[in-house]
Amino acid sequence: ILKELKSGCDTPLPVLRRVADAMADDMRAGLASDHSGSDLKMILSYVDALPTGSEKGLFYALDLGGTNFRVLRVQLGGKDNRVIDTEFEQVSIPQELMFGTSEELFDFIASGLASFVEKESERFYLPPGRKREIGFTFSFPVNQTSIDSGILIKWTKGFAVSGTAGKDVVACLNEAMERKGLDMRVSALVNDAVGTLAGARYWDDDVMVAVILGTGTNACYIEQIDAIPKLLSPASGCGRTIINTEWGAFSSGFPLTEFDNDMDNESINPGEQIFEKTIAGMYLGEIVRRVLLKMSKFADLFGKYLPEKLSTPFVLRTPDLCAMHQDESEDLSEIGKILNATIGTTSSTLEARKITMDVTDTIVKRGGRLAGAGIVGILQKLDQDSRGLVFGKRLVVAMDGGLYENYPQYRNHMKSAVNELLGPELSKNVIIEHTKDGSGIGAALLAAVNSKYID
Ligand code: BG6
Ligand code: GLC
Repeated sequence: ILKELKSGCDTPLPVLRRVADAMADDMRAGLASDHSGSDLKMILSYVDALPTGSEKGLFYALDLGGTNFRVLRVQLGGKDNRVIDTEFEQVSIPQELMFGTSEELFDFIASGLASFVEKESERFYLPPGRKREIGFTFSFPVNQTSIDSGILIKWTKGFAVSGTAGKDVVACLNEAMERKGLDMRVSALVNDAVGTLAGARYWDDDVMVAVILGTGTNACYIEQIDAIPKLLSPASGCGRTIINTEWGAFSSGFPLTEFDNDMDNESINPGEQIFEKTIAGMYLGEIVRRVLLKMSKFADLFGKYLPEKLSTPFVLRTPDLCAMHQDESEDLSEIGKILNATIGTTSSTLEARKITMDVTDTIVKRGGRLAGAGIVGILQKLDQDSRGLVFGKRLVVAMDGGLYENYPQYRNHMKSAVNELLGPELSKNVIIEHTKDGSGIGAALLAAVNSKYID
């Protein structure tokens, strides 16, 4: 089983190349038309103006979509004093809200915002007649209709909230704020990848791409307006915009196994988000659990009896994999403890723990390397369209998300795939950089750029 798994997950250079090429092709198809059949939606963000550094004043951000929900207050200092002063509150999103109604979810968001604002001191009061402005990071696929409105296409990452798909999520938030008696206005609606790009770009003009590797995964980048054929009437005067690729839906050219296919078939969104299901944090632990289950059933991996919880979907989480992966002890005792605590083994042999490590590394390596190939696909597309102008100079890819931040092996596999694909010369210019919590700040910056009170 292990041998088959390893060969089924193998990502040598030709496979990585195929994936990068397919990513670039799908991007072009998605930019050409919304009906091209491309997996990539290539959503227009309506972010045509990026933060310049001169943004000034008090702005808020709501950040929904990863593991946590956050409310932030951001004080922007302006050109000569860019230092950003932020305060935030964060809560993990209650499981039941992920399966509840739209009203319940948006009421939860508005309540979080209301209690945050209620506590603030007088120094944050705004002049009469001026509403507090919000940048709303909403990390799901949304068909933007303007910078401050957009229709939810579908939920991803295990959310199955009823009554939101097909609705304007800003209108949903406004209604909830009204129910809570809150008088604030959303000035920018942004995806988390878009927020991360804006937040990173505030500090560094060479940022061209942002990638989220967390519960889910996505990438966005700065595109030339004339490279977007589906944009029939481009706004005058702006040469570039951010495109949200929604690359989690990508599905071409990469290796899948029976474990991936079974997980997909049994998921709440079969056939969707295949790249995400192969490389993102929500799913890596679950793939490993499925492999261990087969090994236990057919090869007595953990002895004669199945560990108590090994058949429970999602019982093994990616942070558990990460903790096991750090075990450098000779007897892999940490792995033993984590297996006991998660899947309910009572004991395990060294051989079983070694196999667990091997399975983990195989799945994490495939995920990281495919993420790297995806990044190179985007860079390749930009370089080809600009006739070689991209790789010649410094270019920054801003990264965020718990998987990237907390999983060193995943990060390393990702980076080595990028280096293998680009080669030593080109990879020197490509800087892959962590932008911690950038998307909340990025959303506040975009609220500032799109403020209704610009004097
Ligand atoms: C955060 C962003 O830093 O990373 C969020 O501000 C984003 O908007 C997230 O969704 C990804 O987080 P997670 O919890 O999925 O790793
Ligand atoms: C999912 C969402 C996407 C988001 C990503 C990372 O793929 O569809 O919008 O950016 O997760 O959070």
